[in-house]
Amino acid sequence: MTGTDSDGARSGRRSGHRDPNAGMTDLRRVGANPDFWYPVALSRSVRSMRVIATAFAGERIALYRGESGAVYALEDRCAHRQVPLSMGVVEGETLRCCYHAWAYRGDGRISQIPYLSKGDGRPPRGVRGYPVREAYGLVFAFPGDPEKAAVTALPDLPAFGSPKYKTMTFSRTVRCHYSFMHENLLDMNHQFLHRGVVGRLHPELLEHRTGPRSVEARYLFTHAGGKRNRSASLLAAEGIGGSDSADVMTIRTDYPYQTLDLVPEGAEGPAYCLWAAYVPEDAEQRMCHAYGLLMIEKPGIPGVLHLGWPFIRRFTERVFAEDRMAVEAEQRAWEEQGEDRNHEVFPLILDVREVLRTNGVPLRPQAAAFDADPSSDGPASAPGDHPAGPAALEGPKSSTELPGG
Ligand code: FES
Ligand SMILES: [Fe+2]
Repeated sequence: MTGTDSDGARSGRRSGHRDPNAGMTDLRRVGANPDFWYPVALSRSVRSMRVIATAFAGERIALYRGESGAVYALEDRCAHRQVPLSMGVVEGETLRCCYHAWAYRGDGRISQIPYLSKGDGRPPRGVRGYPVREAYGLVFAFPGDPEKAAVTALPDLPAFGSPKYKTMTFSRTVRCHYSFMHENLLDMNHQFLHRGVVGRLHPELLEHRTGPRSVEARYLFTHAGGKRNRSASLLAAEGIGGSDSADVMTIRTDYPYQTLDLVPEGAEGPAYCLWAAYVPEDAEQRMCHAYGLLMIEKPGIPGVLHLGWPFIRRFTERVFAEDRMAVEAEQRAWEEQGEDRNHEVFPLILDVREVLRTNGVPLRPQAAAFDADPSSDGPASAPGDHPAGPAALEGPKSSTELPGG
């Protein structure tokens, strides 16, 4: 955009183009649909008999692992005086608040108030308990309607358990709305951004398919010269940057998750598959926690992947750092302009924006009102009893770094 084109809508009219965002809900004000399983921590960060703090879209969650090894997720706010339960102590399968020692079961019900005697006020029932599952080295919570948890499947990742693949796990906070992450990965036309790391890659869109909940794009990748990266070659089984062969990359947003598979020319299966989820942390959803599982095919020669592992890690971290730089800059631009003024032209990105819009949910009204002051600490939670209801709204947690990040 040039200096004179500061107003996207106006410049659109001048040049005879329709403003692509006109009349549409601003995508960056669309909340992630809570009726899915979202990773909220790495399994290894929830150690036995310990509790940690995590969050989904401004709902603070205390995650703890009991003596049995089971993980529980509770609203991170004691029903008594709102002190975070993540400051508490695990005893057997219960979590005891650090302040007056009220104890909670894994479902959020209060199991003990040590000093309560006859004639004292009636205590609340407890706090909200979230359905929890562990899979793929991640702890998943279900922040939506708990009745839907039982009928909602966890993502299916057959390569994770396969002896043919080894998994590299990523966990990072990114300061952007989750939608930027989906658009970034699906739009392979941004390879220019990675020119210093992967060389000159030429992506050609072969086809894309859009469904009510998904967008899938198939690209043909060929190397067009420039610097070649050895880790990229290892990662792509001598595909990307390693030889003249062409690789087919399939990227899919399958709401709310995203996957990417790379199949080198002539290969039967993918050289690697990525699964990713972008979990909003704050109520305004201007920050997300990206969890990624990169499942890499083991090459024929034993030990090669093991030796190359640190290099692959460094390579992928460099690529990710560049993507993060771009999406965080996009978020800052949105904040400066107060609305989405993107002039998107690529049809499949327009499609994924629509998929994210229609499958998402409105931001909670308090969060939207709160938008006006991003530096605010947020409203105080209501005092008194609020048994087992949805967690009260939290303000933006500008410095939160979740475990593993
Ligand atoms: S604040 Fe938790 S027991 Fe009092
Ligand atoms: Fe990228």
